[in-house]
Amino acid sequence: MKPKVFIVGVGPGSRELLSDRARDRIGRAQVILGWDLDLLPANDLLSNKDVYLQNATNYREIAKQVADKFRNSAATVAILRIGDPCISSGLTGLLELFKGYQIEVVPGISSVQMAASLARINIDESVIVTFHESGDIEERKRFMLEAMRRGRHLLMLAGEALRPGPAARFLVEHGIDERLAVLICERLTLPDQSLTWTTLGQLCEKEPHWLSVIAVQSASTVRPFQGGGHADTLFTS
Ligand SMILES: C[S@@+](CC[C@H](N)C(=O)[O-])C[C@H]1O[C@@H](n2cnc3c(N)ncnc32)[C@H](O)[C@@H]1O
Repeated sequence: MKPKVFIVGVGPGSRELLSDRARDRIGRAQVILGWDLDLLPANDLLSNKDVYLQNATNYREIAKQVADKFRNSAATVAILRIGDPCISSGLTGLLELFKGYQIEVVPGISSVQMAASLARINIDESVIVTFHESGDIEERKRFMLEAMRRGRHLLMLAGEALRPGPAARFLVEHGIDERLAVLICERLTLPDQSLTWTTLGQLCEKEPHWLSVIAVQSASTVRPFQGGGHADTLFTS
């Protein structure tokens, strides 16, 4: 019998958005791997489990340790990932590390989907860019710029490699309209969620929380920008 691993998307943070399938797969696992934030929506399901907590200094070693330790056992491992595991969650590396396991990837509601719904934009008319994972950042910046020039909306996962302020400055300096409407989505679905409408020009001076997605509405579908302030409700007329 091969060991099993479930790579489970747990949604953007609220327990309400953890799917039944995700609950089921977490329930079946004896071993859990994830960062603090990944575990948050599933905390009530983790008692009596063998939890391996990842952090900024150990995340690679501890994932390898788990993969090696249970490779020749009948154990079931659940790797929890905030949002959807197929968006900026190191999926390729996990698939490589857990070779030899039976692998199931369980989708989750991504912070990107939440941001798109709040900003009222179609994901298929957008480009999703992450500045979380390593790689060629300059190439990613050029790609983001090119997509915006072609009239795409932008859904940006702010990472260490490029913060939203400098990203906005880069776009404006390269000719993207500073009046474009922007929704800053911080700590989505968590009790202290914050939603702020602003413009691309004003975003240059802001420093959103690290747990944020920035939605920039494209020039081609621009709606008149109504001013700043906080959108503290999910409903608009
Ligand atoms: C490592 S990536 C994981 C993305 C995740 N797989 C997803 O689908 O949302 C972490 C980044 O996702 C975004 N993110 C994840 N959860 C979020 C939330 N609840 N609110 C706002 N942004 C979030 C932030 O940009 C954060 O820096």
